[in-house]
Amino acid sequence: MNTEQSSKRRNFLKTTLALGATAFINPIQTMASLPEKVDEFAIAVGPYLQTNFGNEMTILWLTNKVAAGWVEFGEDVNKLNRKAYGKSELGLKAANSKLNCVTLKGLIPGKTYYYRIYSKEIKDFQPYKLTYGNTVNSETNSFINTDISKKEVSFLMLNDIHDRPKSIPLLLDLDKGNKNDFIFFNGDIFDYQTDEQQIIDHMLKPCVDSFAKQTPFIYVRGNHETRGKFAREFPQYFKHVGHAAFTLGPVRFVIIDTGEDKEDAHPVYAGIVDFDQYRIDQAEWLKQEIKSKEFKKAPFKIVLMHIPPRFSGDAHGPKHCTELFDPLLNQGKVDLVLSGHTHKYMVHQPNKEANHYPLVIGGGPKDGNRTLTKITVNSSGLTVKMLDDLGKEVGSYTARRK
Ligand SMILES: [Fe+2]
Repeated sequence: MNTEQSSKRRNFLKTTLALGATAFINPIQTMASLPEKVDEFAIAVGPYLQTNFGNEMTILWLTNKVAAGWVEFGEDVNKLNRKAYGKSELGLKAANSKLNCVTLKGLIPGKTYYYRIYSKEIKDFQPYKLTYGNTVNSETNSFINTDISKKEVSFLMLNDIHDRPKSIPLLLDLDKGNKNDFIFFNGDIFDYQTDEQQIIDHMLKPCVDSFAKQTPFIYVRGNHETRGKFAREFPQYFKHVGHAAFTLGPVRFVIIDTGEDKEDAHPVYAGIVDFDQYRIDQAEWLKQEIKSKEFKKAPFKIVLMHIPPRFSGDAHGPKHCTELFDPLLNQGKVDLVLSGHTHKYMVHQPNKEANHYPLVIGGGPKDGNRTLTKITVNSSGLTVKMLDDLGKEVGSYTARRK
């Protein structure tokens, strides 16, 4: 790091801590957490919420030094009478880390929960003597534990931000005032992974500032998140960034991690990736998913995947996605596929000869190409509206309930 970079980083740190300090002031705080010096213990970013629903909510945050963390929560804003810790492994509570990930389980459908995050600095960790420093906590935040039997589901998709953090609030503001069950990040939020600070500055902070203390987000990797020296640490900052499936209201959501776009043997990957096998394994998983009771009984099936299953050129990754996933998406009679990757927004209508499903591709990352995609599913059907970064509708799709 040169002198200019180092000074920028110091300035950033000061700004971050100053912003963090403002957020932590609350009248019943037990220990002061107002950092007077740059190296004072503080919450670096968060809390941010992630969930796959099912009456669970995962709360994540980062501190600037290693600590032991927990969440205090409850149904009454004045009585946070329950406490939850990070996942215990082999009898050890999660601790001695800057990263905190606490899942609240067994929540009541439709209930509002109030919560605060706490972190106690670990100043010295000797085998038989642990020395704690200060404890810091956030203000009280709240979220609604979404009832999965709800009749209407709505969410927003952002994709291909490519290290332009200002795009996140700018695009989300186009839907200001409307409630969404979650925000979906469909890959390539970064160009490549460098370090933790990049994840904080370019994604977590804009998310926390805009929505993520109250509304969860869900994230799948694009091909760019697989690149760079920090790609192997990157997944631990999120509940998951790979494939997953869950039910919310009338929708079965299926998320596929489409991996890289070039062949595994390409020199830029230097022999340390194996995306062909990863995609083959996911195709096998998808085959089982479309046979599952949850998938079959859902009135709507929505698939989210960064590289589109068609129409994204003839590089190895896209072609492999078409070969593996497209027949299964047709076979599963999916109602909608949402993608990114091409940087050109487009709505591809269903086609009996090829993709039997509608394919909506969000744009990005440059001004004029960026999109916010809003999806609503209710008793009358499914609606997709894609807005450009000035708020003009540039694509839409509707399907009636069968
Ligand atoms: Fe991409």
